Amino acid sequence: MEDTNDISGGYIEHEFVSEYYDYILPYVEDISFYVDQALQSGGPVLELASGTGRTLIPIAKAGIDITGMDISSRMLGLCRSKIEKESKNTQSRITLVEGDMKDFDLGKTFPLVTIPYASFTYLTGVDDQLSCLEKVCRHLEPGGSFFMTLFNESVEALADNSVFNEFDITPEFTMPDGRRVYRRFRYVERDYTRQVEVKESIFYVTRPDGKKERLVHRFSMRYFFSFELVHLLARAGLEVTGLYSDYDGTPHDATIKDGMIIVTAEKA
Ligand SMILES: C[S@@+](CC[C@H](N)C(=O)[O-])C[C@H]1O[C@@H](n2cnc3c(N)ncnc32)[C@H](O)[C@@H]1O
Repeated sequence: MEDTNDISGGYIEHEFVSEYYDYILPYVEDISFYVDQALQSGGPVLELASGTGRTLIPIAKAGIDITGMDISSRMLGLCRSKIEKESKNTQSRITLVEGDMKDFDLGKTFPLVTIPYASFTYLTGVDDQLSCLEKVCRHLEPGGSFFMTLFNESVEALADNSVFNEFDITPEFTMPDGRRVYRRFRYVERDYTRQVEVKESIFYVTRPDGKKERLVHRFSMRYFFSFELVHLLARAGLEVTGLYSDYDGTPHDATIKDGMIIVTAEKA
């Protein structure tokens, strides 16, 4: 199996991937969790793969200084335009950095580092995962915390081959210029040995003049199992303190189809 070429998961290569991001289906379930963790830490917070600022901006609005790093200048550009609409106080709390989460040195440490919404899974190789986690550890204050969210791949989901046929995933949405966008999804390949899946998000666009186009965002994602995460983080100097299946602290349950794994860790 060949992974997709764009190491960012398509956020560098395709303009439409960034452009549609905030319209697809705003995911809000994790925002209060990440805001609460940021408040408890007192800040400043380092958020890796911060994208268009979905969790970053609410944290700054809650009064916490935050640095967001993303590899995609397009996602950072969209984030900047959203920040410009915020108060001067909020704006002053945010620093954006273009960078690769597996290779960066900000020259400072933080009480909290986060990687929300499965962005870590774009790192499909163990060397890249370890490199990222080592950088996380290096940027944590002694006793600092690390939180990330991953998708849970249940055995049931891994055995489900119906996903190789295109299926509906999110409701149709309309862009400010009147384009109607209907998104479908399919899996293209599943490599059980490497634990990597190649997926496609397919956008059917109808322009206001009636012209239609089909845009394909193909990306590779690595799935993880719970004990693998404990060992992986330990190799980078991070001790896993909890594995949860939701943001209310329900313990991780590997059988939940289409669920999440929320990982909490401390600098060992
Ligand atoms: C699914 S989006 C998540 C964005 C944001 N964290 C959120 O929760 O809405 C994935 C983000 O990861 C970023 N990304 C992918 N690989 C990266 C890397 N190696 N370093 C930094 N950012 C990366 C992409 O550019 C994109 O903004």
